[in-house]
Amino acid sequence: MMSKREPFLSRILIFPIKSLDHLELQQTRVLSSGALEHDRTWALFEENGKFVNGKRYAAVHRLRSQIDMAARAVTLRDESERGLGSQHFSIDDDVDPLENWLCAYFGFPVSFRKNCDLGFPDDTDSPGPTIISVATLAEIGRWFGLPIDEVRRRFRTNIEIDGVPPFWEDRLFGAAGTTIRFRIGDVVFEGINPCQRCVVPPRDPTTGESDDTFVRRFTELRARTLPAWSTRERFNHFYRVAINTRLHSDHDGGILRLGDRVEIIDIPSESGHARTPQTSDFWAGELVVDTVRDETASVKTFRLRHPSEGDIPFHFKPGQFLTVSIDGGAEAVQRCYTIASSPSDAGFCEITVKRDGIGSAALHDLLTPGSRLAVSGPMGRFTFDGESANEVVLIAGGVGITPLMSKIRYLASRNWNGRIDLVYSVKTQRDIIFRGELAEFQRVFPALKVHLTVTSAEDAWTGARGRLTTDFIQSAVPDIARRTVHICGPTAMAGSVQQMLHQLGVEASRIEIEAFGGKADRNTAIEAVDYEVKFARSGLESIISSRTTILDAALAAGVALDHGCRAGVCGRCKAVLLDGDVMIDCDFALTPEQKKAGLILTCQARPAGLVVVDA
Ligand SMILES: Cc1cc2nc3c(=O)[nH]c(=O)nc-3n(C[C@H](O)[C@H](O)[C@H](O)COP(=O)(O)OP(=O)(O)OC[C@H]3O[C@@H](n4cnc5c(N)ncnc54)[C@H](O)[C@@H]3O)c2cc1C
Ligand code: FES
Repeated sequence: MMSKREPFLSRILIFPIKSLDHLELQQTRVLSSGALEHDRTWALFEENGKFVNGKRYAAVHRLRSQIDMAARAVTLRDESERGLGSQHFSIDDDVDPLENWLCAYFGFPVSFRKNCDLGFPDDTDSPGPTIISVATLAEIGRWFGLPIDEVRRRFRTNIEIDGVPPFWEDRLFGAAGTTIRFRIGDVVFEGINPCQRCVVPPRDPTTGESDDTFVRRFTELRARTLPAWSTRERFNHFYRVAINTRLHSDHDGGILRLGDRVEIIDIPSESGHARTPQTSDFWAGELVVDTVRDETASVKTFRLRHPSEGDIPFHFKPGQFLTVSIDGGAEAVQRCYTIASSPSDAGFCEITVKRDGIGSAALHDLLTPGSRLAVSGPMGRFTFDGESANEVVLIAGGVGITPLMSKIRYLASRNWNGRIDLVYSVKTQRDIIFRGELAEFQRVFPALKVHLTVTSAEDAWTGARGRLTTDFIQSAVPDIARRTVHICGPTAMAGSVQQMLHQLGVEASRIEIEAFGGKADRNTAIEAVDYEVKFARSGLESIISSRTTILDAALAAGVALDHGCRAGVCGRCKAVLLDGDVMIDCDFALTPEQKKAGLILTCQARPAGLVVVDA
């Protein structure tokens, strides 16, 4: 007898009329196409041939349907304001009256069509049943404070598996181009990919009312909790859950019954499916705070380790950053922090954080040795490992020293045989971060020269005073025009140093910039005007204020736009602006060619009129 701890089929749902209510079964036939018999066999269409579905019409959610397959009959009930009541139809003989009723309900002509072989699956490349575990539904319910049955109605999957932990079903897909064979009872399927979700799950399944924060919260939590067995490369964004499947080509269908055992057949290949927490290029999970160090009165360094012994579970390049999720207040916030330590120290990574606003203050106040911190990454192209040039100028403002320090530490660990000029501006001499370590590097690592300037120096300071200027940079690095330069600091500082470098004759192609944001990015000064933003590919639109970014508007509207840093750095949120004008805070992550091609960073772009975006 099967143990409860083994995966087993615990629920079968079919949706005979696509987009309407489900029917729960004890057993079902898998057709030779891979579809479940009677699943999405019927669908509603507009005159233009498009589906009338929940993605396009929230009114679908206020239409209840109860189908009796044995009697071949359906009862439709209007739960909207229209007051059409309920009506009973034969699905074979009453097509005209059924269409008339639907036309009265939606307010436009609707046709009712049938496809007995393939049905009308959401994804025609994967006509098999969609699969999720009961524990995943329960976990999502916990995230949003929703009863499991409501989560079920929001995500509308066919097959539920019990006896497994949350997101167990992520084991059923592998690397792009591969599939994972698995058996339910006697029927063998192939798991293809994690299902991309649409605008339906954020909606109350009974009223159609949408929760604008749902996609963002879901995406953040999914990324944070992605199990080690999930193939991360399949998540171009994290608004994905449940699995798309098809029938294995050697099989012609069969019967699925509640209680059937579920078994994975393939032993996934090394490259196809990383199952164990091994070192990877991208990782999300929790690290443990090992030590906390005061660098200055307002800057602390947090050394992070893997919760189990061993190296940190990801590779990074000097200059990359992590996204950190901070649970300080009512809602978790995400912030980017550079890995200031060197990749040559594989046993830990360090972030050095200046106390500023909500997120950084929470890190300073809450993190102590032993605390856990949810991180994802590494990300970023602001890197230098000494391979591409044999000399480099690093220009930092304040805490912008962190990525540059990672580069210096790494190059020093290799005893790099090049030239590094660090030009570093701080407010007072007490704000010099890594002061002792930089002094020591200057002594033992001849490649490094440090040029400090202090803007509000106290009397005892004997070094250079004042802000970064072209004169200061030129006198510190006389051959600057021929050098490769990396700039990092607040956005305003990074922009003004970039201008100075242009004046000093440094070609744009020799300049790399990372901006940390800051007060200048807060567009509270601009007038709040409402504009329409259309997302052409998903057919969604929204009215947003000129102070709202296109990315926030997209996520609130249910467009699953990929994103990372939200600071114009990682480039993951880019999209083509098809029409209209936007105001841009910072677009350092775009190349001139990408800008010419109409790409914008949606996390940095705010509407300045009607805007159409390809998303
Ligand atoms: C790639 C990258 C790497 C980074 N690396 C580091 C790093 O290594 N170390 C580090 O310390 N930081 C780093 N940052 C910056 C970091 O991500 C945070 O932006 C920073 O810590 C501030 O976040 P916060 O939550 O503390 O402040 P927030 O609450 O986001 O506030 C940010 C600033 O805006 C001000 N502000 C907030 N609301 C308003 C308002 N309505 N009007 C006017 N001003 C307002 C705050 O006072 C504060 O100065 C990095 C950023 C990026 C993009
Ligand atoms: S989210 Fe990183 S550039 Fe926009």
